[in-house]
Amino acid sequence: MVKLAPSILAANFARLEAHAREALAAGTDWLHIDVMDGHFVPNITIGPLVVESLRPLRDGAGATLDAHLMIENPDRYLEDFARAGADIITVHVETCPHLHRTIQRIKELGVKAGVTLNPATSLAALEDILPEVDLVLIMSVNPGYGGQSYIPSSTAKIQRLRAMLDSIHSKAWLEVDGGVKAGNAAEIVRAGANVLVAGSAVFGGTRTVAENVAAIQSAINGASQRI
Ligand code: DX5
Ligand code: ZN
Repeated sequence: MVKLAPSILAANFARLEAHAREALAAGTDWLHIDVMDGHFVPNITIGPLVVESLRPLRDGAGATLDAHLMIENPDRYLEDFARAGADIITVHVETCPHLHRTIQRIKELGVKAGVTLNPATSLAALEDILPEVDLVLIMSVNPGYGGQSYIPSSTAKIQRLRAMLDSIHSKAWLEVDGGVKAGNAAEIVRAGANVLVAGSAVFGGTRTVAENVAAIQSAINGASQRI
């Protein structure tokens, strides 16, 4: 089962709940929340208060709130995001000198633990933590902004990560984030991903959210059938 996780970064923040509900009504059940601090990445976006404001979508509409922390010293905020209602918290290896401790802390808070790495960071940085995590996120753009182009070498990296996960019989989600759209979704799924984040391809452009979701889902379904 391959999931599409709309990134609310590309939604209209003035009507965030309604826009997010459109994505859920179109058949998605994850919401990807991009948390940026202006230090680890240049942009500043969302904090725990916004996650809390999306809680009705989780408790009422069954959405999985998938928080991607692009912040320095994430340990300081894990409890806040857990309390705000995050179901999954993903941290960057580049920001966690004591990654094992950070992952254990996320799990102690009753939240699924994810780990991610920048495009230039080697998968070798993940090897020892893989057995501990519920999700691994491959960044297919340099984090900081929505609307960037997918970095082509990400596909080979997804394939290598899929092999690493399979070799330890890990059931962790393999998520891909950045520049995902209907035109490359099949390639990404065939490489071994099972959660695709899409921001501008869901909330941007001139088509409706429902039409955008349908186009990406159809690419995903076509690829899944061929695996
Ligand atoms: C990048 C973010 C992504 C981004 C994806 O730093 O982590 O989630 O919002 O946006 P698109 O799909 O527009 O590339
Ligand atoms: Zn993200």
